[in-house]
Amino acid sequence: MENLSLILDEARKKLEEINSASELGNFYQNYLGKNGKITELLKMMKDIPNEEKKSFGMQVNNIKQEIQLLISNKEKELAKKQIDEKIEKTQLVDLTIPQRTKKGSLHPITIIQNKIIDIFLSMGFTVEDGNEIETEYNNFEAVNVPKNHPARDMQDTFYLDSGQVLKTHTSAAQNRIMKKYGAPLKAIFPGRCFRNEELDASHENTFFQIEGMMIDKDVSVANLIYFMKEMLTNVFGKQINVRLRPGFFPFVEPGFELDISCPYCDGKGCRVCKHSGWIELCPCGMIHPNVLRMGGIDPEKYQGFAFGLGFSRLAMMTYDITEIRLLNSGNIKALSQVRIK
Ligand code: DAH
Repeated sequence: MENLSLILDEARKKLEEINSASELGNFYQNYLGKNGKITELLKMMKDIPNEEKKSFGMQVNNIKQEIQLLISNKEKELAKKQIDEKIEKTQLVDLTIPQRTKKGSLHPITIIQNKIIDIFLSMGFTVEDGNEIETEYNNFEAVNVPKNHPARDMQDTFYLDSGQVLKTHTSAAQNRIMKKYGAPLKAIFPGRCFRNEELDASHENTFFQIEGMMIDKDVSVANLIYFMKEMLTNVFGKQINVRLRPGFFPFVEPGFELDISCPYCDGKGCRVCKHSGWIELCPCGMIHPNVLRMGGIDPEKYQGFAFGLGFSRLAMMTYDITEIRLLNSGNIKALSQVRIK
């Protein structure tokens, strides 16, 4: 029995000195291998008197387990040591290697959207979200485009089996937002829109708009002009003049096409403005009383203006992108030429 504890002490000491897997392999053989010390002890069992067999067996087994545990701990220790040494030898980060990964950039659409959002936030507008899948009611009826109205033709879209549609314009959120906040109200809502379009360099089935609404007592076209001028002057970083021409949209009365003085030639005439000095930019108007009423707002008490700015086009103009399809293409080469200016 005394021998047994000596064996264990000796094993502990030996293990402490072991520094490699091969040494540990030898140690294993010496103790637990075929002719190892512990194996030999177990073989001795048959010569032990019966009354001592049980306690002897138990002790040998305890020692065996203890040595197995010590070996497995040593194994872990050696593995960790090996990894540490490897890390020390390998220089994981070589600060002298020139940077090969390219710096990313925001998408031109995101850049321009953020810019416009910032401007309107600074003028006290809230920023709302719209659904991309909308009810037919919100997309059409609620903005004064009943079934069979010819205006639906210009906004043919993708109909889902559920009867819902992919929204054709950000105006689709007008009703929801009026019902949510009531009057007075100052909000913009950017979003992705979809239409069944013949695709060409300036028409896509997926494009981006920012809708804006201001509803209050005594709101007039003067307010509309003021906010649009402010926004555009900020976007282009220079004084921009605007003019309104009559335009028809069922959800506004009167409705306008807002043109801006060409920011590239300051109205003198150039390739971009087709030598007219003006660029057609944004449809807008005074919200139709029917639309206010459907939104739960009394048109006798409140008026408002609304606009629907297509900012895919604005992004193209700002960043000199001549092909609208590039915007949704994921073509990194083309898109990464645009950087925040
Ligand atoms: N929703 C219209 C479109 O996509 C654009 C529009 C016109 C929005 C006039 C407005 C507006 O808010 O007042 O064609």
